[in-house]
Amino acid sequence: MAKATQKSRQRPAAKTPASGHGAAAQATWGGRFASGPAALMLQFSESVSFDRRLAPFDIAGSQAHAKMLARAGLLTAAERDAIVRGLDAILAEIQAGAFTWDTALEDVHMNIEHALRRHTAAAAKLHAGRSRNDQVATAMRLWFKWSCAQLFSALGDLLRALVAQAEANQASILPGYTHLQRAQPVTVAHHLLAYVEMFARDRTRFLHVAENANICPLGSGAIAGTTLPIDREFTARELGFVDSQGHPRLTQNSMDAVADRDVFIEFLAAAALCGGHASRVAEDLILWSSAEFRFAVLPEEFTTGSSLMPQKKNPDALELLRGKSARLQGHLQTLLTLVKGLPLTYNRDLQEDKPPVFDAFDQLLLGVQILTRVICAAAASDPLLLATDLADHLVLAGVPFRDAHHAVGALVALAEKSRTPLNELPEDEARALAPQLGKNWRDVFDPARALAARERPGMPGPKQVAAQIARWKKAL
Ligand code: ARG
Repeated sequence: MAKATQKSRQRPAAKTPASGHGAAAQATWGGRFASGPAALMLQFSESVSFDRRLAPFDIAGSQAHAKMLARAGLLTAAERDAIVRGLDAILAEIQAGAFTWDTALEDVHMNIEHALRRHTAAAAKLHAGRSRNDQVATAMRLWFKWSCAQLFSALGDLLRALVAQAEANQASILPGYTHLQRAQPVTVAHHLLAYVEMFARDRTRFLHVAENANICPLGSGAIAGTTLPIDREFTARELGFVDSQGHPRLTQNSMDAVADRDVFIEFLAAAALCGGHASRVAEDLILWSSAEFRFAVLPEEFTTGSSLMPQKKNPDALELLRGKSARLQGHLQTLLTLVKGLPLTYNRDLQEDKPPVFDAFDQLLLGVQILTRVICAAAASDPLLLATDLADHLVLAGVPFRDAHHAVGALVALAEKSRTPLNELPEDEARALAPQLGKNWRDVFDPARALAARERPGMPGPKQVAAQIARWKKAL
């Protein structure tokens, strides 16, 4: 295998037929080909325009592989060092923006291997015992571990922002809604802590995705491993694919390792869910900041004006959050469909696995950062919100709940008809409809009292909410 690769590399570029301008470049697999791929084919098949971001992970994989090859006696120590140093230099060049990417070399892996030839002749020995199939699977698993850590940290910032806002708004009462109809009073703090629960679950999900990515496929080769005396435990350890005790974690079936894209799909599922949560927060804030609600004022730097209507302050950032969540859902669907009909093992279709995953990461990270900056709140209250509490008041006086519900419904209808707030209905008219009303029935409409009466676990009572804030501040 190594020999064949070397032979193909020795084919002089100048002698390749002119028909395919990529022929010279296809040194890694060009041995059996008389001509290179058509220019149109290269344009269609290249992935370096999007997979170049894998460079640091691909290089880490190659360095670990070179160290392992030296231990196995397949590279000398000098060759190993030349490869490791050459790859370091290439990474520095890439990070400085000085590296020239060539689409004729298809992907990030071949671009880097090709560039390594400028540093050392030992570059031709690096691909012994591996294939691009296990190489890309390894690079992607490293990327998932890294990207999940980025999202975990960004979600931590969002959670801390939400908890801080909750803490500042424990006394602000606002209507909670069901069916977008005013339901019962809650506090801004309780409402914000609902999002905290959602985003905390999202954060845990990314932790699980990173954990599932933490298994090393390197050594699986193209499909069936290699006959060379490789040491999979060594490369896994070298790349940090280890459990909490430091033991290497290896994929257990070479065909599964190069064919499976479960982690991609799990990542996109977590991203789609998190994007859905962000979209719901965005929708709440869009409503709250409208003139009809006026519960929230949005920071100017994340809104836009209208060229025509001078009064407008449009919640564009939040609308984009809502819109981009559709994109995240689409990416999940793309990956599910991409893999469902593929025969084992690797098929080139799988190259299409990366753009949705990278885009989901970019958009979600930005979205979480935007949302962190936008979080803000204000409050309102309305006596009608406490109609349920009035029914509870009757229940405590011995009225069956269904009857109490009916009586309060009649009071609400009367209040609406006479355009009187529920708590300002004339005493005689109220008593005619609900004779069991206690002397102090109007006290029910004090929102602070109403919230103080809700102090069991998970409820919006001020002590409960304060306890939740304390719990999250400790956890975060
Ligand atoms: N760029 C390719 C991908 O992402 C790398 C694997 C190529 N393997 C192959 N057998 N052509 O899928």
